[in-house]
Amino acid sequence: MADNTEVIVNPKEDIVDPWTVQSSSDKGVDYDRLIEKFGSMRINDDLIKRMEKVTGKPVHHFIRRGIFFSHRELEMILEKYEQKQPFYLYTGRGPSSEAMHLGHLVPFICTQWLQETFDVPLVIQMTDDEKFLWKEEIKDPDQTYRLAYENAKDIIACGFDINKTFIFSDIDFIGGCPEFYKNICRIEKKVTFNQVKAIFGFNESNNIGQVSFPAIQAAPSFSSSFPKIFGGHTRVPCLIPCAIDQDPYFRMTRDVAPKLKFLKPALLHSVFFPALQGAQGKMSSSDPTSSIFLTDTQKEIEDKINKYAYSGGGATLEEHRKKGGDLDTDVSYQYLRFFLEDDVKLERLGKEYKTGSLTTGDLKKELIAVLQKLVGGHQEKRQRVTEDIVKQYMKPRPLNYKF
Ligand code: TYM
Ligand code: TRP
Repeated sequence: MADNTEVIVNPKEDIVDPWTVQSSSDKGVDYDRLIEKFGSMRINDDLIKRMEKVTGKPVHHFIRRGIFFSHRELEMILEKYEQKQPFYLYTGRGPSSEAMHLGHLVPFICTQWLQETFDVPLVIQMTDDEKFLWKEEIKDPDQTYRLAYENAKDIIACGFDINKTFIFSDIDFIGGCPEFYKNICRIEKKVTFNQVKAIFGFNESNNIGQVSFPAIQAAPSFSSSFPKIFGGHTRVPCLIPCAIDQDPYFRMTRDVAPKLKFLKPALLHSVFFPALQGAQGKMSSSDPTSSIFLTDTQKEIEDKINKYAYSGGGATLEEHRKKGGDLDTDVSYQYLRFFLEDDVKLERLGKEYKTGSLTTGDLKKELIAVLQKLVGGHQEKRQRVTEDIVKQYMKPRPLNYKF
């Protein structure tokens, strides 16, 4: 739904696109079906083993636990790395609100791990233009432009290497880098209205900025868009970590790449961090009661989990002790899968909850402690990010990388 105006109650089929994530089941999106529909590949055990062999270290628990579950051409990237050939990472954020939520951390945490593991350059696109074009309540691009710089602080707090990371606002960079805008024009010329209609569901009522925006999200997939970083190297392969809602943009990108004699970007897709109310929806800023924000206080985190986190436990304590809880629908357990790193403890909690010896209250207590530490730690790190540090990350410049 390209205009986000329609909400379908209990859809027959899962809806997953850059604007809507709505599942027809309380267990959440059917990701196997999505892989089939989108034509991506599942990350299987062999690929994980290969990653571990190539890098000489265990994969991040997001990959081990299937949170990053799908890919396109990840093998090609691993091959390049094995042959000591360069590649780069690209990800992004649409700065539509002051506060980012826990779900937004997922791709950034994984990207930080990838940068550290492969020691490669990274570009992060802040689509302040996109959010101005789409959000009715945002009246002026100055608002999203300011949010791009605010959100950059949260992103920087994830620990990206300052010498290897370029964060840019579209508004700044389109105005300042002719090579970037030339690539946007090249892409615009090769994609028809019929194609974006089919890929994104646009229609005659979309504003014309929305119709051409996909070219702007596509352009950073090509190293020729960043002459200061890549110099004359116009065919450096690109790997894009993101949640799978962003895939339509990159299907279009991969379609258009060969027509321009550019390389297709590789992708690494994550599942969605569920809404507090359950896996039918993703955590989303447009519904504040669905989300834990990175600005929430310790008390707010505790209250929200206790009040809203959907429980897969029995209806009464007696029933729970007898039948146990359902791990697939229990939001607290699902959140622990994302953010409790200790495998042994996670397994123990899961087992005890499933058999009913652990109650929903006990499980929520564990989760509250994990999230208070995560969010509290994030807030401390963000506070140390000064305006001057933001400027350094956002200055077009060569990065510390030998080609
Ligand atoms: P945005 O700001 O909506 O989201 C930023 C990133 O967070 C992911 N995400 C989630 N991941 C897990 N669980 C959730 N509940 C959840 N909600 C959001 C998104 O998939 C995304 O990876 N148009 C983009 C900005 C963008 C971009 C990119 C993203 C530009 N270039 C390249 C990824 C890669 C946007 O509005 O993202
Ligand atoms: N995908 C983003 C989000 O869900 C931004 C977005 C794009 C959006 N188009 C939209 C939000 C239309 C609301 C309406 O936040």
